[in-house]
Amino acid sequence: MRNFNENTITDAVLERIAGATDQRIKQVSEALVRHLHAFVREVRPTQKEWEYGIDFLTRTGHMCDDKRQEFILLSDALGVSMLVDAINHPVPEGATETTVLGPFFVQASPEKDNGADISGPKEGDPMLVTGSVSTVDGRPLAGAVVDVWHSDDDGYYDVQQLDKIGDLAMRARFHTDQNGRFNFWSIKPAAYPIPHDGTVGDMLAVQGRHPWRPAHVHFMISAPGFEQLVTHVFVAGDQYLDSDVVFGVKDSLIREFVRCPPGRAPDGRMVDSEYYHLNYDFGLKQVASNARAA
Ligand code: BEZ
Ligand code: FE
Repeated sequence: MRNFNENTITDAVLERIAGATDQRIKQVSEALVRHLHAFVREVRPTQKEWEYGIDFLTRTGHMCDDKRQEFILLSDALGVSMLVDAINHPVPEGATETTVLGPFFVQASPEKDNGADISGPKEGDPMLVTGSVSTVDGRPLAGAVVDVWHSDDDGYYDVQQLDKIGDLAMRARFHTDQNGRFNFWSIKPAAYPIPHDGTVGDMLAVQGRHPWRPAHVHFMISAPGFEQLVTHVFVAGDQYLDSDVVFGVKDSLIREFVRCPPGRAPDGRMVDSEYYHLNYDFGLKQVASNARAA
């Protein structure tokens, strides 16, 4: 077959794919071609615009290494990460809603005992975090692994300032106690802009968008037999809750970080300054017995 034109080229490519033996590859390839061709037909790019698009993606790729992943950031800022999350994480009654992982998770986070202060050398408003991990019907899960990480009061994560602070801080791995509870001290996080010195930042600027995320604390919670939960808890009242650059906010994940006077804190500690208290009770969903292997 030859002499394809605007009206015949899509079917010609689809026909070429028809022999793919893996049905999932065939389905994904066909959808990619149909949607990509439809996009080009709708947008009708000039040759120069198409070259710009290729250059944009090339520059995005060049910004990816083991420290920076501009493609994930692009997926986040275009709402694709949250769409994939929504498709893969239906939430039954009693289960905590999910949101994006983000680029600042560290696999080998320091293990800490409940009650630890994880602020390291960082100063800020003291924050007590208490919480629990249960099944969707309220049975406490002892020994669940609770990874937490958050920004400082200037909106920077430890991994963005390791040269200055020397070690990981404002992140740790806890285990829930016999009652499924955990608690720790840190400093209250602030809102922050996602890295916007690359192609994603260029895109946000020309789309007339800001790069900010509302203040939040990240949680990744695992327990055998339960789906791993990746989520955040957002600070109620933050000015960016309705315009989070990565579309990650859900009402069920917003909590008051309650301002408390000096005195005895709920964990029994005597505190000589004002502090903030966040409590959140998480519900984990059991792994479906017919779950497809990843
Ligand atoms: C974060 O919350 O850490 C994050 C999520 C998506 C993009 C950038 C940062
Ligand atoms: Fe974050």
